[in-house]
Amino acid sequence: MALGKRILLGLTGGIAAYKSAQLVRMLVKSGCDVRVVMTESACRFITPVTLQALSGQTVWTDLWDPRIADNMGHIELSRDRELIVVAPASANFMAKVVQGQADDLLTTLCLARDCALMVAPAMNRQMWDNPATQRNVAQLRKDGVLLAGPDSGDQACGETGMGRMLEPEGVFEEIESYFQPKTLSGRKVLITAGPTSEPIDPVRTITNSSSGKMGYAVAQAARQAGAEVTLISGPTALAAPSGVARVDVKTARQMFDAVKKFAAAADIFISVAAVADYHVVNPSAQKVKKGDGKGMTIELAENPDILAYVASLPNAPFCVGFAAETEAVSKHAKEKRARKKIPLLAANLAQQALGADDNEITLFDDAGEHPLGRGAKLDQARKLVSHIATLLQKRKPAA
Ligand code: CTP
Repeated sequence: MALGKRILLGLTGGIAAYKSAQLVRMLVKSGCDVRVVMTESACRFITPVTLQALSGQTVWTDLWDPRIADNMGHIELSRDRELIVVAPASANFMAKVVQGQADDLLTTLCLARDCALMVAPAMNRQMWDNPATQRNVAQLRKDGVLLAGPDSGDQACGETGMGRMLEPEGVFEEIESYFQPKTLSGRKVLITAGPTSEPIDPVRTITNSSSGKMGYAVAQAARQAGAEVTLISGPTALAAPSGVARVDVKTARQMFDAVKKFAAAADIFISVAAVADYHVVNPSAQKVKKGDGKGMTIELAENPDILAYVASLPNAPFCVGFAAETEAVSKHAKEKRARKKIPLLAANLAQQALGADDNEITLFDDAGEHPLGRGAKLDQARKLVSHIATLLQKRKPAA
């Protein structure tokens, strides 16, 4: 689903300005109208021409630009905007916003805004850690300014620490998140995702083809709906969605232990993981050598059913199951929902969903079947989250 919002993107002076070129591309691709404003320092790091070409619009840099009607640039340029995003936001820029200073076009626009302001800080770790910056960050939060990041890691100056700007994908996610309805605000959501991996010996495992994409999309959608999300993940190649706490596990029994730790505090449990039904009884401590042509037998024992366990807890969270079937989806889904005693089950055809970026899910609950149509996994996840929020609201309004 395209985002399609009217954004004012401000750039201040920082080497991370190159990331904003990519951010503009992502926003435009997502149907947004992006108006770019740059400070004088930002123009030293990246040229307005680049951002003009990417946004398809004039880039504004000067408070006194005669092209702006009645010299009202400080008001006109942000009046029709739904969000102002400043990325990169330098320490100096944040200090000015805190003080209510308005000595250039961007700070003036921020002061005269009537929409929300989001800043993506970008600076050296010592500048970030400086008590003055920390005071400013706290004040920005108090004033309702949204913070996207920063991230920690390698910095352009060669140092390592907190303060570097989020990657463009991360800032985009925060922008997307801002526009999502907060239907799960105040809820704690526990999600399992990905495959599990059951060792045969130190170098071989029994696993399945789950990519984890659906579970991660559900985690992202729940987070964007305002929930506090813990994601217990089997081995995947995916990065945790922004703002989601991830716990990594390998085997079904490790996943079970992790779920047990968090389940009691959760309001909602969404079991998206493709949990192995069996584990190897006696995995070899050393690599198993090829035999003499007689073949090999592996003894398997059943794994705990994590979802059924959580659903049977005395104060069970609202439980949602997933079923990937290869045939007769509706019949299997109804049986599975009844067997696991869960209020909601999301089912799909495994051959259409595995590893793909889109999916076609049908939800099964007490009221019957609800086909969500075909679409990107994140869009399907958002529809699922909104369905859960509606069911949960009927049952137990958020505290
Ligand atoms: N599940 C689980 N623990 C397991 C097996 C499954 O929590 N040991 C959860 C999955 O995360 C999913 C749901 O149960 O939400 C359905 O999983 P599935 O494997 O399709 O169901 P099974 O009960 O194992 O039935 P079958 O394999 O016969 O289809």
